[in-house]
Amino acid sequence: MENEKAINLEVNPSSNTAITTLIMLANAGYDQASAILEKMGVEKEKVFHGIDRKDMINRPVDIARELRYVALNRTIEESGYQTLMDLPCGYTPKVFEFTEKGMRYIGCDLPAVIDDFAPIIDSMTDEEQKKKIDFAVVDVTNYESLKAAADKADGPVCIATEGLLAYLSSDEKQQLWRNIRRILSEKGGCWLNTDAETIRRYFAVFKAVAGDGAGDLMAGLIKGFSEQSDTDLRSNSSEVLSGQMKGTGESVRMDYEKLEAAYHAAGLLVEKVPYYREDLELHLFNSMSPEEIEKVRENIKHVNIWKFTVDPAYQEKEDAGFSGAAAGPVDPSLPFQVKSELKDGVLSVSIQGRMDTITAPELLKQFQEAGEGIRSIHVDVSRMSYVSSAGLRVLLIMYKSLADKDKFEMAGVSKAVREILETTGFDQFLLKE
Ligand SMILES: C[S@@+](CC[C@H](N)C(=O)[O-])C[C@H]1O[C@@H](n2cnc3c(N)ncnc32)[C@H](O)[C@@H]1O
Repeated sequence: MENEKAINLEVNPSSNTAITTLIMLANAGYDQASAILEKMGVEKEKVFHGIDRKDMINRPVDIARELRYVALNRTIEESGYQTLMDLPCGYTPKVFEFTEKGMRYIGCDLPAVIDDFAPIIDSMTDEEQKKKIDFAVVDVTNYESLKAAADKADGPVCIATEGLLAYLSSDEKQQLWRNIRRILSEKGGCWLNTDAETIRRYFAVFKAVAGDGAGDLMAGLIKGFSEQSDTDLRSNSSEVLSGQMKGTGESVRMDYEKLEAAYHAAGLLVEKVPYYREDLELHLFNSMSPEEIEKVRENIKHVNIWKFTVDPAYQEKEDAGFSGAAAGPVDPSLPFQVKSELKDGVLSVSIQGRMDTITAPELLKQFQEAGEGIRSIHVDVSRMSYVSSAGLRVLLIMYKSLADKDKFEMAGVSKAVREILETTGFDQFLLKE
């Protein structure tokens, strides 16, 4: 079990980021967040791996995050749907907020998070509450996993996203959009996404409480994000922090029209719901001056949560059987399978199906079980239909383990997989030309 957890964390390091939101909410005075933290055995002042909270989070960031939490919760409630699909849930106290209001809650996240979080919530709830709560292991790029999660709801779903897009590559975002559209077409409902205007929200708050320091704060934040994520956010062209940082915060720009058009092309209609409401209250307002509060209120008047519904005019030709943007000549419906054999120092591996966050841990497990003495690795990917960043990470771990890097070989690379390797830069290590 401990090893399984370590494997999951190695494959999905972004899971750790969810704890920082929980710590922020606990520190802002949300008692249920403190109760979850206590159950997790995490000290409020520390984040995982002993990093001092003070080094990585500060007051303006906390204000921007509480703002997101409060505004999203209110927008979920206003949507009027009876089931909340929290995508990704992290370790959020939302599970209590919404079940107390009578809604059903489906918490969805990567295995590393759900394995930790589901038993904790189970230990904190009575039989009546448990009836309203479900958890599901998903990878947002994996349609089948999302469908299984959504099917836990009888009717339409309100899918809510805060703090996800920063961790996805452009290709993974495209898959997410497509998957969301398919889920909404089948179940009905809406998707609320706070991440489209992340940069605007942070900047609005930073300008209100940090004045001239806002630009430096933005630059520091972007650097922090980039270090937590596989995707290079500074050059990522579609979402979250796609504005160009040119030294000062004032030059942060974002092409929202282009972004909206991209969503539209994926079959999603956008409605913008403002963060601002006259009665907006944050716990952290207690620690702010009246001038700061007023400026925050004023600055967020133009910041929005994006609410998506399915465009009824949209026709998708290749929906049936699609399981990833990289679908190529390899049958995308092949089930995932790894076979490996170690003989005379040569590890031969063959991978079939989609290698993503849910399936990649199996490869890492088999690699670790093969033990010492691997001098060369041969990976047959001719039946691998798709590889996500989690899968690439495992291949890289295998590659790095070799004393002689020339002894790593991948065979049967499809055009689609080659494109992913080239876009992410992994081709430099994993492919030989
Ligand atoms: C910053 S946290 C936000 C969590 C939660 N919404 C909150 O506000 O506390 C980012 C979350 O995204 C999850 N995540 C990253 N990539 C994912 C993927 N491909 N599929 C599902 N979840 C993913 C991580 O496990 C992590 O829990």
